[in-house]
Amino acid sequence: MWEDKTEDVVEQCKIELPVLKEVKSKKISKSKSGPINLLIQGDNYHALSVLNYTHRKKIDVIYIDPPYNTGSKDFVFNDHYVDVNDSYRHSKWLSFIHKRIRLAKNLLKDTGVIFVSIDDNEMPQLKLLMDDPDLFGENNFIALLVWENKEGGGSSDSKHFKIKHEYILVYAKEKENLIVNKEKIPDEDAYTYSDEYEKKRGKHKLIKLNSASIQYSKSLDYPITAPDGTKIYPSFDHKQACWRWSKRKFDWGVENGYVRISKSKSGKWVVYTKQYLKVDNEGNKIERQRPPLGVISQFSSTMATKELEKIFHGKVFSYPKPYLLIKHLLSLVASKDCVILDFMAGTGTTGQATIELNAEDNGNRRFILCTNNENDICTKVCYPRISKVISGYKDFNGKLIKGIEANLRYFQTAFVGAEPNDKNKEALTRQATEMLCVREDTFEPIKGSKQIKIFKNDKHYTGILFDEDAVPALKKEILKLGGKWSVYIFSLGDDTFDEEFEDMKQKITVSPIPEVILRVYRRLFKT
Ligand SMILES: C[S@@+](CC[C@H](N)C(=O)[O-])C[C@H]1O[C@@H](n2cnc3c(N)ncnc32)[C@H](O)[C@@H]1O
Repeated sequence: MWEDKTEDVVEQCKIELPVLKEVKSKKISKSKSGPINLLIQGDNYHALSVLNYTHRKKIDVIYIDPPYNTGSKDFVFNDHYVDVNDSYRHSKWLSFIHKRIRLAKNLLKDTGVIFVSIDDNEMPQLKLLMDDPDLFGENNFIALLVWENKEGGGSSDSKHFKIKHEYILVYAKEKENLIVNKEKIPDEDAYTYSDEYEKKRGKHKLIKLNSASIQYSKSLDYPITAPDGTKIYPSFDHKQACWRWSKRKFDWGVENGYVRISKSKSGKWVVYTKQYLKVDNEGNKIERQRPPLGVISQFSSTMATKELEKIFHGKVFSYPKPYLLIKHLLSLVASKDCVILDFMAGTGTTGQATIELNAEDNGNRRFILCTNNENDICTKVCYPRISKVISGYKDFNGKLIKGIEANLRYFQTAFVGAEPNDKNKEALTRQATEMLCVREDTFEPIKGSKQIKIFKNDKHYTGILFDEDAVPALKKEILKLGGKWSVYIFSLGDDTFDEEFEDMKQKITVSPIPEVILRVYRRLFKT
């Protein structure tokens, strides 16, 4: 329980409804066949509300890195920094994060997953919040990952402990539906020995055949004959022990090259089994892999700062996350054509991670980034960063870094009156075009008149009708162009125009606007 604090941007939605307005001059089109990524500038409460209409159950992965509420000017609530002496600091943070995560959860597919970066300041509060059955519920808790964020010894600013880690809380929308990719084991280096089987089986490591740690069994205690005829027994240091393999398995191992008997430095015979990289102990082909580790230590905060300095030739933000860390998380859980959302995008790290991962594994992932423009973070850092990653840039040594083909559309949040009168409904309809294109992922304009607008992608068309008298004209277009259609028709009520499109039912879906949008907003804002 916490004291819910009213927030201006939330109250605003009772008098104004959020929509999207495209900043066309910031559009980037560098990939013909690639997906269209989105950057939305504005408060994420508004952006997430819009996405509740356009992207309900369409997101595979959410990653966020919210303000940690450290008390030192990192968390803004109602336009004021929350400081350590604010007795409601946790309540304000919980009010803030709860309202956003509640909206974000609706966007996840049933197979989806959310990662939330956090540190000691709010980790316990956040964990309990996420465990609430109305949010994700403890049944859907996946892991509390520890990220070692500092290289070397860690910071020495604490009197008691050197803290060099923070956390990433992981929840599934529905635990039984979440698939976490296994990792290739990174200790390939441990497989160092070569033999005549290397080509097929890979290199191998040696593991002693005798073990004091397995339960003694008489049948596993048999003599093995060394090359010079010496009998070798599993016991060592005069203690009873046995072999790990039965006599039958051992004979099979000798015959098939899975056993090595050699002299140790002290001149004693030792029996080893060979563990190959590419086959198991029965000779079956395997890829040695394991579930990803809960402690992540290969990427540091310093790396993240350097990544940004490489692009901007100087420091532009205090605590970005390394894109390699986000790339690592994305590679663990998602298919190669997933939709990724970061609604605390800051410098756009998640965008770069997505683009780089696609380039690495030929993926088709797309991202949606939302951030406000605190200290010009969106206009001066996030957008230019994504733009440079796509178009290429010179690093601080003057070296040309090649761009990676991708597409981006830039939106800002805008507003129309919330009172459900005819004037506002007409205004919302006029402003809704961009939201409809985002929802349908159709950005290529085919026709634009006062009465009809048509957009397409390579799979289907979106038709927007601003005047129902133009239904016959739109039907003509549908017959001419063919293919699948989503049609939106302006109506002051909730007419679904079934009769008018009866003869085309198979190929098109018809929805009344703005009613379909208002329905979502009424539920979210309880107006
Ligand atoms: C800790 S930073 C995220 C940094 C990011 N992971 C990176 O690597 O650059 C949190 C970001 O969330 C943004 N933010 C905070 N409150 C927001 C809000 N209500 N709406 C949109 N963005 C917000 C801030 O501008 C800040 O850039």
